[in-house]
This record gives sequence, structure tokens and C-alpha cells, in this order.
Amino acid sequence: MRILVIYDTVSGNTERIAQRIAEGLGASGHQVSCRRQSVSGEEDFMGVPLWVIGSPTHWGRVPFRFNTLLRNALKDAGSDHAFLAFDTRYEKVHSGAADRVHQLMVREGLRPLMSPQPFIVEGNQLRQGEEEKAVELGRTIASLL
Ligand SMILES: Cc1cc2nc3c(=O)[nH]c(=O)nc-3n(C[C@H](O)[C@H](O)[C@H](O)COP(=O)(O)O)c2cc1C
Repeated sequence: MRILVIYDTVSGNTERIAQRIAEGLGASGHQVSCRRQSVSGEEDFMGVPLWVIGSPTHWGRVPFRFNTLLRNALKDAGSDHAFLAFDTRYEKVHSGAADRVHQLMVREGLRPLMSPQPFIVEGNQLRQGEEEKAVELGRTIASLL
């Protein structure tokens, strides 16, 4: 299956998680494209059955430019897709960017593969073990397809 892992990042944490998820997914033979917001457009979403969407949490939300890309993609690519949202955030934050993305996608009629998946940052670095957890998530997603 074609899978798009699409993410935004400023300091690299969400990018590392996205790449690890893609690694776990790719190991099972799926056709995975891993794209950063700044070099992507709506066309990357077209005709791809599964979108794995990763965002840093900025003030509890999705960064504006990434939110705009997602909304444009929904407009152009329609709602016949499955998705999974993940984010990076501080521990004990009960709602992060992935919850916002999840709500938006469900509201637009896309099918959630799993609940929103948080990855924890301490200071400004990923907590130890989060990258391994991301590879595992990639494998889990693949096992659900
Ligand atoms: C401007 C700014 C606002 C942030 N706001 C939040 C927040 O509201 N909640 C949270 O859990 N983390 C917050 N963080 C932490 C980021 O979510 C975290 O550092 C994330 O891993 C950054 O992702 P990136 O390295 O991919 O850019 C904030 C970071 C920045 C720079």
C-alpha cells in the first residue's frame, strides 16, 4: 500500500520520529514516502490511501503553516483516506497537536487507524526510548493494514 508520512518540524524531533515510523513501515514492504511540510504540497496527498501525520505541539496547536497544508490537502484530495496522527510534546500535556489533527480529520470524514500518538520531549530533546517506540509504531501500523 502507498503510505505518506507527512510532518512538520523546527528543531528536528518530529522529523526523527517520522523517519523512524517510516522505517518500521517500510520494513514490511509498503511503499512509504516521508515528506517534510516545507518541501511538500497538496499533490503529495493525492491518491495515497493512508496519511501518517506528525506535528510538533506549538502552544497546544499545530503550527499554522502545517495546518494550512493539511486543510488544502483535504480540499484537494478529498476524504477517502485513512490516517493516523502523532506529535511531539512535553510530558503531562493532556492535549497536543495530534489531538487537533485527529479531530480535524475525523470531522472531515477520514478514517482513524489508531488514537493520536504522542512522543515525549524532555527539555528540547526526545526522551530516551521514543525513537524505538516510533519504529515499533511503524510495525504496528503495518500489521493493521
Ligand atoms: C514556540 C513553541 C511552543 C511550544 N508549545 C508547546 C506546548 O504548548 N505544549 C507542548 O507540549 N510542547 C510545546 N513545545 C515543545 C515542542 O512541542 C517540542 O519541543 C517539539 O518536539 C518540537 O518539535 P520539532 O523538534 O520537530 O520542531 C513548544 C515549543 C516551541 C518552540
